[in-house]
Amino acid sequence: MVLTIKKNVEVCVLMKINAENEKKLLLEMLEKLGVNEENAEIVAEATLNADLKGFTSHGLGRFHNYITGIESGNIDPNGEIIIEKETEAIALINGNNNFGQVVAYKSMNMAIEKAKKIGIAAVGTNNSNHFGVTGFYSDLAIKKGIIGFVIANTEPAIAPLGGKEPIIGTNPIAIGIPGDKYIAVDMATSATARGKLLESSRKGEKIPEGLALDGDGNPTTDPDKALKGSILPFGQHKGYSLAFIIEILTGPLVGAAYGKHVTGTATCTKNCNKGDLFVAIDPNKFVGIDEFKKETEKFISELRTSEPKTIVPGDIERMKIDDFRKKGLNIDKSLYKRLSKICDGLDIDINDFIEK
Ligand SMILES: NC(=O)c1ccc[n+]([C@@H]2O[C@H](COP(=O)([O-])OP(=O)(O)OC[C@H]3O[C@@H](n4cnc5c(N)ncnc54)[C@H](O)[C@@H]3O)[C@@H](O)[C@H]2O)c1
Repeated sequence: MVLTIKKNVEVCVLMKINAENEKKLLLEMLEKLGVNEENAEIVAEATLNADLKGFTSHGLGRFHNYITGIESGNIDPNGEIIIEKETEAIALINGNNNFGQVVAYKSMNMAIEKAKKIGIAAVGTNNSNHFGVTGFYSDLAIKKGIIGFVIANTEPAIAPLGGKEPIIGTNPIAIGIPGDKYIAVDMATSATARGKLLESSRKGEKIPEGLALDGDGNPTTDPDKALKGSILPFGQHKGYSLAFIIEILTGPLVGAAYGKHVTGTATCTKNCNKGDLFVAIDPNKFVGIDEFKKETEKFISELRTSEPKTIVPGDIERMKIDDFRKKGLNIDKSLYKRLSKICDGLDIDINDFIEK
């Protein structure tokens, strides 16, 4: 918060929230919004997980979108999640507009249980909503010694290579590998997540060069222009191709919308009918979990002892989690303002949760 003192000198008071208070605040907001305890727990955990891992674009700073979603009727916290088709190896789930987090949590757990029986399973979803960070769901698998693979589509952000009209989503992919330490990758197939543009816009900050184009197809570092334009795919044709394939596996394959027909994942202001695919693989049905972990560790130690010193996927998330647990999450002025407004509307005192 900025306090104005004598001689008009502005003093910044650092505001923070710790993990315990963030979870409490999220649960209280969800309870006041009428979300049942089980679903509130899942949404709160998924949101906290984003902040813990340093993906603040998908944490507390994104939470107002879910409120918009509930208020506009685009998210139905009581929507009945229906199994439309099921075999030993697959399931097709209709999320019925429930929270994307709840649909994803249940679908990934279903894939895990199936994989434990037969080695590999895939669960697809339609009629779902934005689910936050993708890695939260592959983490569910690795906690049970299972490899987790998650992909999803979103409303368009990526234009076809060389074009300017966004037609493909930021289509994230997360893969988690069970191991003694956290091993995972979690990323958008766009050069950056759209959430990071929304976060930069909220803070009034520019975005790095080389990530996005404005509506005329020119490079821009202005997040608002980029949000009206398009985000480049990561790695040019490679990210474009991967985003394209994910759109098909999470659209046509699972009975969800795809391309321009996916709406409202960014702000939950429209019903989106987005889709996801959750795949679980049990290493026990291959070489066995112990052998798999041993060989994976051997490979990682070869990476770690290579010169110059480097990190491996998953290290950043582990470091960010440690950092958050020690220092808490910084609450900038714009986020404080936004949260205060939400809390006032729900008769919650934001200052009960924030340290100044
Ligand atoms: N729900 C949705 O619709 C949706 C859509 C897009 C993105 N997202 C989420 O947005 C978040 C941010 O996505 P992003 O693409 O901007 O992520 P990012 O570019 O910040 O990171 C991508 C991945 O690379 C890893 N990484 C970064 N630097 C590394 C290095 N030097 N060595 C090894 N690994 C490294 C990160 O730990 C992470 O796993 C993700 O959690 C993603 O799931 C969600």
